[in-house]
Amino acid sequence: IPSLQDAFAGKFRIGTAFTNNELLTEPDKQLLTKHFDSLTPGNVLKWDSTEPQEGMYNFSGADAAVAFAAANGQEIRGHTLVWHTQTPDWVFRDANGNLVSKTVLYERMQQHIETVMERYQGRIYAWDVVNEVIDASEPDGLRRSLWYQIAGEEYIEKAFEFAHAADPDAKLFINDYNTHEPAKSQALYNLITRLQAKGVPIDGVGHQTHISLFYPTLSEIESSIVKFKALGLETHITELDVSVYSNDSQSYDIFPEELKTQQAALYKSLFQIFLRHTDTVKNVTLWGKDDANTWLRTFPVARNNWPLLFDERLQSKPAYWSVLETV
Ligand code: XIL
Repeated sequence: IPSLQDAFAGKFRIGTAFTNNELLTEPDKQLLTKHFDSLTPGNVLKWDSTEPQEGMYNFSGADAAVAFAAANGQEIRGHTLVWHTQTPDWVFRDANGNLVSKTVLYERMQQHIETVMERYQGRIYAWDVVNEVIDASEPDGLRRSLWYQIAGEEYIEKAFEFAHAADPDAKLFINDYNTHEPAKSQALYNLITRLQAKGVPIDGVGHQTHISLFYPTLSEIESSIVKFKALGLETHITELDVSVYSNDSQSYDIFPEELKTQQAALYKSLFQIFLRHTDTVKNVTLWGKDDANTWLRTFPVARNNWPLLFDERLQSKPAYWSVLETV
């Protein structure tokens, strides 16, 4: 079967997230190397993996993930440096359990960003510096995470400044989900405008794009991509998957045929949108290569789901073929 990365060569990089379990068997490794020219380690670069206790770094998982991609000449997206989950609680607290000062928080943040980014300098070409910082329901559009509670909006610019100092050649991204929602997209846009006005080094916006067969609309997705062109940033689709459900209480034993067809059609329309905007869309990354390796089988509830391009047995799905039809 044709390789996705060959099909989209010259348009945008095509990537997938992966877990280190997928590096244990040949068929998984073959699929990862054949189809994708960009890889995103799904968990092993997150703070709770790399620095579970202060100053006690553990790079075993990250090193293995990065070495695999590098050995195969694949680009790597680093995910992620500053986030409100999968970040150990010690980051925010002193020995008594109280929240630390801004100064202490920034020292820890800088140490962490420097140590992780410098280790992989030259091998990780783009980093999600901050992840999921937007909450459109707040007046300033910012999530009330512990980062925010301690430092306010300023922690975001610090993260970018530390990241730029640590690896001046890495492309620095702000990444978020539901960026197709008009209010959220606007809050993200406003934040980036404020950052740019202060000269904060930000290169790109990442649209996670965890969507379903039932929402959002294609025009919402296209509008959110177009909206950020005005800011002169690179656009990455960072975590694409298409859940087959419309709510958390549904669960199918097998993937209904009509939904399989619907999913193929939706993937085709999505890639047609991405192809219309190759002036800014430079990377389209799926959040997993196959339906056995999707986070949507545990989140938001444990159930079957079939959100990706290859099935549980690594066979190409109708969605895979429809994506290929776009080029
Ligand atoms: C998910 C991983 O895929 C899971 O293995 C983990 O248990 C939880 O995190 N948005 C993100 C990703 O930015 O880091 C998340 O990844 C999925 C949602």
